[in-house]
Amino acid sequence: MKIKAKDKTITDKQEIKVFLEKYGLYAEFWQPETTDKSTSEPLIRYKNQIEKLKKKFGYSSADVCAMSHETANLDKMLNAFVKEHHHTDDEVRFTVEGEGIFGVNPLTDPLFEVYVQPGDLLVVPANTRHWFNLTDKKNICCIRIFKENPKWEAVYEMPKEHIIS
Ligand SMILES: [Fe+2]
Repeated sequence: MKIKAKDKTITDKQEIKVFLEKYGLYAEFWQPETTDKSTSEPLIRYKNQIEKLKKKFGYSSADVCAMSHETANLDKMLNAFVKEHHHTDDEVRFTVEGEGIFGVNPLTDPLFEVYVQPGDLLVVPANTRHWFNLTDKKNICCIRIFKENPKWEAVYEMPKEHIIS
């Protein structure tokens, strides 16, 4: 994980956690629990860490989501993510393979970008204004962790209480 903010780039894991915490985001760095190459299923490879996170934040499910240049309608899918939005549920992503960029608008401070790579878990809390894009490699496989019946819908309009007049 790496953070690109207005005046600095942060690569130190502890500094990253502290920086994100300031804006309500949360990060962890996971190692696969088994090096058994026959276990390619991410939900099995990271089972214990997923369970721990579910307990910590009250999540109840997880699935795997992959996007690459082989994905049908990739540009159309990305179009929905690259525009600034928020959700009424947390967006929780653990990157298994590939890479991506989460942009965050903390509203009170300049925008910053979080570059995620394999092993990185990021929690973008409900109502945080953000966007997501792939890097030029156009490839990511991640685990999504969520509450029962999550509201995935992206809300593009700024909530009224966030509009600074
Ligand atoms: Fe989102």
